Amino acid sequence: KSILSNEQKIMKKNKKNINPIWGSNFNKQSNPLLEKINSSIDFDKRLAFQDLKASEVHSLMLKKQKIISSAEYNLIIKGLKKIRTLIQNNKFIFNKKFEDIHMNIEMYLHNLIGEVAGKLHTARSRNDQVATDFKLWIIEALKQICLKIEDLQKTIVKKAALHVQTIMPGFTHLQSAQIVSLGHHLMAYYEMLKRDKNRFLDSINRINECPLGSAALAGTSFPIDRTLTSKLLGFKKPTMNSMDSVSDRDYALEFLSNIAISGSHLSRFGEDIVIWSSDQFKFVTLSDDFSTGSSIMPQKKNPDPAELIRGKMGRFSGNFLNLLTMIKGLPLGYSKDLQEDKEPVFDSYDNFILSIEVINGIIKGIKVNKNEMLNACSKGNLMATDLADWLVINYNIPFRKAYKMIAKIVDIANRKKCQINDLSISDLSLIGNNSGKRIKSFLKIENSINYKRSSGSTSPKEVKKAIQNAKKELF
Ligand code: ARG
Repeated sequence: KSILSNEQKIMKKNKKNINPIWGSNFNKQSNPLLEKINSSIDFDKRLAFQDLKASEVHSLMLKKQKIISSAEYNLIIKGLKKIRTLIQNNKFIFNKKFEDIHMNIEMYLHNLIGEVAGKLHTARSRNDQVATDFKLWIIEALKQICLKIEDLQKTIVKKAALHVQTIMPGFTHLQSAQIVSLGHHLMAYYEMLKRDKNRFLDSINRINECPLGSAALAGTSFPIDRTLTSKLLGFKKPTMNSMDSVSDRDYALEFLSNIAISGSHLSRFGEDIVIWSSDQFKFVTLSDDFSTGSSIMPQKKNPDPAELIRGKMGRFSGNFLNLLTMIKGLPLGYSKDLQEDKEPVFDSYDNFILSIEVINGIIKGIKVNKNEMLNACSKGNLMATDLADWLVINYNIPFRKAYKMIAKIVDIANRKKCQINDLSISDLSLIGNNSGKRIKSFLKIENSINYKRSSGSTSPKEVKKAIQNAKKELF
C-alpha cells in the first residue's frame, strides 16, 4: 500500500477534506498556499533516519516505563523498520499534505499498523522531536566535516613537505615583502584548518544534550526516562530546561558560524590559487581536470573552481546571518519560524563539503613552477629586511639606523634601475671598506630562508618541524 492510499483512506472519513493531522475544530479546507508555506517535507526529509532512530528509542523507553505494552512496542518497531527500508530503497512517498518528516512517518505508520501508531507520540511533541533529530543530524555532519578537513590537511602536509626549500615572495598588501618557502605558506593553511577542526569538535560539547522528552515546552506528565533516551541516542545527558530545549538553536548557529569561519579560510586559499595561477604570477599551473576554458577566448584556462570556493563564502556568511536574524526576536518556546533553520544548515553543509573536496583536488593536482617563483624573488629587494637584521647582529648598531642605511642603498639601486644585490661593492660598503664584499655575498636570495632563526618562521628547519608535528597529529 502506498502513502497515497493511506491519505485517501483517511480523507474518506473526512468529508470536508480537512487535513487529517489536525483536530476537529477546523471547518474549512486549507488554502493551497498554506500547504506551500507550511510544509517542510521537501527539505526536512533529510532528517528521516534521525527521526526513525529517535522514534525507535522513544518507543523502547515508553515500553520500559510501562507506558506502552510490549505488544504495542513490537508493532511500532516493526512498522518503523518497514518505513526505514522503504526510505532506503527510495520507495517511500513523501506527502506535502502531512507537512513534515515527523508527520509523514507517523501517518505512514498509522497506515501500516493502525491506531497503535498513535501511541508513539505519547510524551513527546514535534517540538522536542525536531530539535532532537536536528541535533543528531548536525552531530553526524560535524563528524563528516572533520574527516574532510583531515583529508585536506593530509594533502597540504604532503605538498608542503616537497617544498620546504622552494622559495617564493611572501606578501604584505599583496606587495612582495620577504622571501618565504611555499612549504611554509601551505602550512599556514594547515594551522587554520586545525583551528577550524577544533572549533567543530569543541561545539560537540555543547550540542551533546538531548532535548527529547521536553515535549511541547513544559515537559510531560508521563513517567519517562530521559536519561535512557539520551544515552541510547548517543548524547551525553538530557537537556536541563524543557523551554530552552524546544527553542534553542544555538547548536545550528554555532555550526553555521564555524562553517563561515572555516569557509573564509577556504576562500582565502581559493584567492591565493587564483592569484598564483594568473598569467602575471604563473607560480602554479592548475591541472586540466580542475580548470575550465572560455567560450570565446580559445587560449584561456581559468581557475573557476578556486573562484567558486571564494564565491561560496557569500552563502556561508549569509546562511549564518539568516538564522541569527530569524531567531533574534522569537518569544521563548517554539515558534514556526524555527522551521526556517534547516535550509541554511543543509546548504552550508553541502557547499562546505563540496568546497573542501574541490580544494583538496586542486592542491593534489597543482603543478608548482619553481622558476617563476624564484624569478619573482629576484625582484623587489626582498632581502632588505634580512640585511638590516644582519647589520644589527654583526655590527651592533640600532635597528632603526640599519633600516635607514638600507633605505639609502635601495634608493641608489632604484635610481640605477637595478636590485641592491646588483650594486657595486663600493655602493654596498655601508660600514667600513670590506663590508661591501660581505654584504654582496650575504644578499643571495637562495639563502634568505636559512637566515631565519625564530620558531614558527620560514626557515627550513622550522618548517620541517611543523610538518613533523602535523604528521604526528594526522597519521
Ligand atoms: N516542521 C517543524 C519544524 O521544522 C516541526 C515542528 C513543528 N511543531 C509545531 N508545533 N508545529 O520546526
